Amino acid sequence: MTIRYVRIAGWGKSLPVRVVGNAELASWVDTSDEWIRARTGIAERRIADAEETTCTLAVAAARRALERAAVAPDDLDLVLVATSTPDYASMPATASLVQHALGARRAGAFDLNAACSGFVYALTIGSQFILNGTARCVLVVGSDVFSRILDWQDRSTCVLFGDAAAAVVLQPTDKPGGLLAFELGSDGAGADSLQVPAGGSQRPTSAETVAQRQHYVRMQGREVFRFATRIVPESVRRVLTQASLRPDEVNLLIPHQANVRIIDTVARKLGLSSDKTYVNVERFGNTSAASVPLALCDALDEGRIASGDTLVLAGFGAGLSWAAAVWRWQ
Ligand code: ACO
Repeated sequence: MTIRYVRIAGWGKSLPVRVVGNAELASWVDTSDEWIRARTGIAERRIADAEETTCTLAVAAARRALERAAVAPDDLDLVLVATSTPDYASMPATASLVQHALGARRAGAFDLNAACSGFVYALTIGSQFILNGTARCVLVVGSDVFSRILDWQDRSTCVLFGDAAAAVVLQPTDKPGGLLAFELGSDGAGADSLQVPAGGSQRPTSAETVAQRQHYVRMQGREVFRFATRIVPESVRRVLTQASLRPDEVNLLIPHQANVRIIDTVARKLGLSSDKTYVNVERFGNTSAASVPLALCDALDEGRIASGDTLVLAGFGAGLSWAAAVWRWQ
């Protein structure tokens, strides 16, 4: 029997048209281009207009990924959408909207919420369906429109995020490579560090929660920073050990793009030089579940990834959660 591997057969991204630079933000809240660049590495981000949603961005990214993979929507067995800003607060799932918009009539569809770790979670889950032979074609999308849940009066959070979607199509192959190892992690003890306090079933929307601005992102930035700079190097080392690889055998680390200082610290702890670490946070800010696939798309389009390369994808975020995967590009 031939051994089955999983491969990324297509990829695509979609970005809102509107670019908001740091200078424009500084006209809305008490901040500056210097502060944002120095503390985060971010220069600009995309912000969705009223017609652009998590679903519409996901569909546009998915269409590009399907086209590149030369796959018809009807070929899809499964549609996975990683998001923490679904079009509807509880139902229906955004994945069902995406499945319908694509015309993927045979596909099952569900959302996955692991915040900024969501795409790496979804990639490993989609891969299991391919590897165990229960699916031949899986669409994995990371899509988030954080601009809708940001408190635009809170300078400590609103400068950090941007909107985007990116997608990959997974298919089986007999060519060795694909997913070599992964780790999915969670520490709910840190749930308070990054959350939207109201609007869920624990604290449903009321006039009081709206008046208290509790439907927006609240973050203990320093705690998340400490968590990320500890957990990402640890989990990357563990997945590399699982794959019997050393950090110096990694061709490209594609980390969640939250803050260039986090990425630099992670790279330093792993002993990876800047040419082995992909960074595009400067142009897009933190796009949550879209960040890792967006970075993957850009790295591919810039020719930074060649056949046989060993990639490490690493996400972290609310939960607190994290996920790391070693992927050999076929
Ligand atoms: N402009 C100007 N000053 C600001 C701004 C701003 N936008 N934001 C905060 N400040 C001020 C603060 O008020 C504070 O002033 P003070 O010293 O007078 O009190 C000062 O800058 C320093 O604030 P800190 O929070 O200590 O700044 P820090 O260096 O920690 O940087 C940051 C803050 C960028 C948020 C950092 O902590 C960080 O990146 N944390 C990780 C965040 C993250 O990655 N979150 C996403 C996780 S992924 C997900 O799942 C969504």
